[in-house]
Formats: sequence, C-alpha cells, structure tokens
Amino acid sequence: NGSHCADVNEDCNAHPCFPRVRCINTSPGFRCEACPPGYSGAAHEGVGLAFAKANKQVCTDINECETGQHNCVPNSVCVNTRGSFQCGPCQPGFVGDQESGCQRRPQRFCPDGTPSPCHEKADCVLERDGSRSCVCAVGWAGNGLLCGRDTDLDGFPDEKLRCPERNCRKDNCVTVPNSGQEDVDRDGIGDACDPDADGDGVPNEKDNCPLVRNPDQRNADGDKWGDACDNCRSQKNDDQKDTDQDGRGDACDDDIDGDRIRNTVDNCPRVPNTDQKDSDGDGIGDACDNCPQKSNPDQRDVDHDFVGDACDSDQDQDGDGHQDSRDNCPTVPNSAQEDSDHDGQGDACDDDDDNDGVPDSRDNCRVVPNPGQEDSNGDGVGDACQDDFDADKVVDKIDVCPENAEVTLTDFRAFQTVVLDPEGDAHIDPNWVVLNQGMEIVQTMNSDPGLAVGYTAFNGVDFEGTFHVNTVTDDDYAGLIFGYQDSSSFYVVMWKQMEQTYWQANPFRAVAEPGIQLKAVKSTTGPGEQLRNALWHTGDTASQVRLLWKDPRNVGWKDKTSYRWFLQHRPQVGYIRVRFYEGPELVADSNVVLDTTMRGGRLGVFCFSQENIIWANLRYRCNDTIPEDYEAQRVQLT
Ligand SMILES: *[C@@H]1O[C@H](CO)[C@@H](O)[C@H](O)[C@H]1NC(C)=O
Repeated sequence: NGSHCADVNEDCNAHPCFPRVRCINTSPGFRCEACPPGYSGAAHEGVGLAFAKANKQVCTDINECETGQHNCVPNSVCVNTRGSFQCGPCQPGFVGDQESGCQRRPQRFCPDGTPSPCHEKADCVLERDGSRSCVCAVGWAGNGLLCGRDTDLDGFPDEKLRCPERNCRKDNCVTVPNSGQEDVDRDGIGDACDPDADGDGVPNEKDNCPLVRNPDQRNADGDKWGDACDNCRSQKNDDQKDTDQDGRGDACDDDIDGDRIRNTVDNCPRVPNTDQKDSDGDGIGDACDNCPQKSNPDQRDVDHDFVGDACDSDQDQDGDGHQDSRDNCPTVPNSAQEDSDHDGQGDACDDDDDNDGVPDSRDNCRVVPNPGQEDSNGDGVGDACQDDFDADKVVDKIDVCPENAEVTLTDFRAFQTVVLDPEGDAHIDPNWVVLNQGMEIVQTMNSDPGLAVGYTAFNGVDFEGTFHVNTVTDDDYAGLIFGYQDSSSFYVVMWKQMEQTYWQANPFRAVAEPGIQLKAVKSTTGPGEQLRNALWHTGDTASQVRLLWKDPRNVGWKDKTSYRWFLQHRPQVGYIRVRFYEGPELVADSNVVLDTTMRGGRLGVFCFSQENIIWANLRYRCNDTIPEDYEAQRVQLT
C-alpha cells in the first residue's frame, strides 16, 4: 500500500485451497497444506493462475459417527457435523448423559404387569375398562408418550413436543398458569401474560375492555366496562351478571332467566320456571323457593345452604350436609344424593338403584335399567352400560364421575359466592373470574374472606389444581375448600406467605403463621367477625375452627410460583390427605388425617385479603376407593 510492500503471490490469490487451509507460495507455483482435521483428501499443488483457478483442493468431510472415530459414550446419540461431530443425549431406551454414561433404562411396568409404553416422566394408569393410558407426572405436560417440562403446572409444556395432541403445544404463557391458553388477539402470547391482551394499543390495566378491541374506549353509561364489551350499555352494571347468558345483562334484561315471563310478574325471576308453580302460596315459585312447602316470603337463609331458615332443621344424623327431612338416605352419608331411578331413595340406600328388578349385588349395569342383563361380549358388564357406566353419554374414560350421570366434567362456571365477613368494612368482596370452561378461577381483588363454591356435592373425591399468586403485592391467604355444607361447615386448606397479626384485635387477637394449614370449620356463629378472626388465626378457636394439620416447614408461598395440590377426601371413613408440589417436587404432605366433622360436601376455592390468585387446571374426580394407607393409620390409632 505504499508503506508496506509484499511479494505478489498470484497463484494463491485465486484461492485454490480448501477453506481454512494455508496456501504456500512456491517458486514456481503454489502448494496447499493438508486438509483440516475431520476432512480427508489428497495434497494439492500446481503452477500458474489459470491452473489455480480451475483446480481447487478437494477435502471431504469424515463422518466420525460412522467410522467410529468419535468419543461419544456408548448408546448415546452421535451427530456428524462438517469437519467434526457432536455427542447428544442418550438413545431412546437409555438413561444418563455424556458424563455418567448411558445405561439401559430399567423396564417400567403398568399396574397390570405389562411393560409401560409411557414416557419416563409419565405414569401408566389403568382405566376402568382395563385399557392403559399414560399421564405425565406433576411438573411435566404432554400426551404421556412424550412429556416436557411444564414450569407453571398448567398442563402445557414450555416447549413444543412432537405429538399432535393439544397438550403437546407450546405454552403461550410459560410462567403464568393459563390452562385454557386463551389468546383473544391471536398474537401467540396468552391473555394471562400479554400486557395488551386484545392488541388495541391500550394496556390491560387501563383498558375498559381488556379482552375486546376498542381503541376509542367509548363508555356511554360510565360504568367499569366500555361499550364494546358492556352487556348493558346505557345502564351501569359493574358485575355484568347475565343469568340466562343471552348477552343482555340482568340489569337491563326484562326477562332475566329467559323463561319468557317478564321479571315483574315472574315468581322466580332468576330461575326459569314456565309453570310458575307455588305450592305454599308465598309468592315464591317452587323452582326457587328455599322452603317450597312452607310459606317464607323473606327467604332468609343465614347459613347459605339453600334451605330457608323457616324449614332448616339442621338435624342431620349422617352428617352429609343434607338435613334428615330432605336427605334421600338420612342414615347413610351421601352428599352427592345420587338417585339414578329418581324414586326418592338415594342409590346409597337403595338395593336396586336403577329399579330394573335385578338387585344391585348382581346387576351388570347397576345404574342403567337392563332387566334382560344382555352382555354380548360376556365381559360381565352389560351392553347397556358398556364403556359408559352411568349412560350419561360421556364415556367412562373422560367422565370425572363415571357412576354419577349428573356429573361429567370439572366445571366451576356456575358457582355460589359466600362472603365470610359480611359486616366487615375492612375490605371489599372478592371478584371471581372463571376461565377455561370452568376449569380455572382467577380472583382479582384484595378482599374480605370469601369462597367460590361449585354446586356439585361429592361423597369421596380427589381434587387437584394449580395454585399461583401472580403478583408481588401482599402476602395473605389463599387456598381451597372441600366438604362445604353451609357457610358454617366446611374444610379449608389455606396458605399464607408471612406471619401477621390481624389488624382488628376484636373480638380476639388472631395471629397467622406462614405455612399450609388444614382446618375444619364448624362455626356456631356463622359468617362474621368471630369466624373471620378464627380463620385468620393459626390454631384452634373454640366453637369456630379446629386446626387438623399444619405444614411443619412453616414456610409461606412464593410470589409468582406455581404449586400443584392433590387432595383426597373419603368422608365415609373420614380420611383426608393433601399434598403440595412445587414443580415436580413434593414439598408438603399432610399424610393421613382422620376427621368426620363433615361427611362430604361441595368443592371450591378460598381467599382472604390476597389479590391476583390463579387456581388453574382444576380437576375433580369422584373416588370412593379407600387408600391403602388408611388401614395402617386406623390400626395405629386404636
Ligand atoms: C381412587 O383412589 C385410589 C386410592 O387413593 C387410587 O389408588 C386411585 O388411583 C383413584 N382412582 C382414580 C381414577 O383416580
């Protein structure tokens, strides 16, 4: 370039050598050094620019994986690359890694003794019909043959899996549980973690229709909801309640229940009853009368059990939450009240549940009438109930209660809200939002204690779900309830983040400890200050609450962390066991707790002064099978 001068090497300027191979100027001509490691090929040399242009050095990649020139551990995956190779994970059927080596995976088996076809992180379970299926373990998601990590425990894997099922798709919110994967603006980011869920340019927290595009934010009636999503545009209705789901909010619907009888003349404005029957003549139709046979125009029901005070005896011999006068089996606990043949006698105390003349003990379809007992395949299960025991049109495999035609899928879309401190002015009432077709509940307010309770009552039940506090604000209570019979009688599993003394020392001082608690609530006063403080307090409170178990670790829940709970309740023997998982790891286990205060009841979720709680991927199953650890515990106690 004028300050530095070098010998012109014309032949090498034509780049005759393989990339990264040095070209050496010889006189005359050029010479290429040997092919690089990982390649094979002859040496190369020549003279003249024309030759150098037309004859390039040829080096061929060596496939070390085929030639055996690799050092991957046996039974692992070797991937050839250009000039080299890479060692991958163990081959299918082997476990380990490049450090520890790959050993043949120990053969795993299904409960019936056959080899398990499931992924290493999945359990093989036997279905009622004897078929096998694979279920990914807690902390993993997929179709069971393939499972991937599921950080937020909502049933969708962090990364896409190579299988066609819906739950093989990549989670659209990896760290916020959203078991319905809702995504209104279809931008690939789920609503639960999208700062502008509807993509209208207005961030959710400022948007008066967070899930409907409305850049103009027009809001004629000035309530919380913009016109674009308001079911009563010219009538304030913050609750947006729409009983008959006709798109017109109750506040502006002149026929709230959609039974074609206008509210003003309807004796049940919120429950469809075209017949308008009113047996006791109290002006309240039988369909919505909490004492249909006894006149009680005020409909008072202090304990929220749907039985009016006027006819509420609270006489309940079997403790299943149904008072004797209304219990279809007064002396056998049967909260579910199944009565397959609708003869007024519950299945639990009926010797012929389906009234087909064949006694239950030898009926091959116990709850489906089949007097002929046809069984063409001779498997002991009658044709009338083959694969669908209760003939409810939902096959047993996916039916959460295969023996109860009234209950088919987990669904909290219809629920009752119970405010446990109605007088308290400390806070506001909880705001519940139900997602994922009733399998997810979100509570958004920093509120007084409250419950959202499903309407289905259970005998034995398994209840599981994912619990996640999606905020770093506050450190209060959240949990679940079961065995709910009325607002004074239920079990609660509750978890607080930090130790705290309740700010209202009346009627008594209440101290909450962190750590999971299992409590039996049997309150003589019902909702109010007494029960409020008793719930807050970690420990027993006479006539209100009994602490059945407390997690000895005494640690609070972590912000923005998903936990999976698994609850078993067998009211017939009073068996309770609850477990909590953080990711795939079991972190708390009550072991067997025996208590018979409530012999069954309804399920729901609980919050107290904590906002932004998500209960996702909820699942309940009827299950009356007594777990094996019950007997050992019972013997120990006697
Ligand atoms: C019912 O409960 C038993 C005992 O806990 C358990 O082994 C079984 O797997 C459960 N059945 C279902 C269908 O979950």
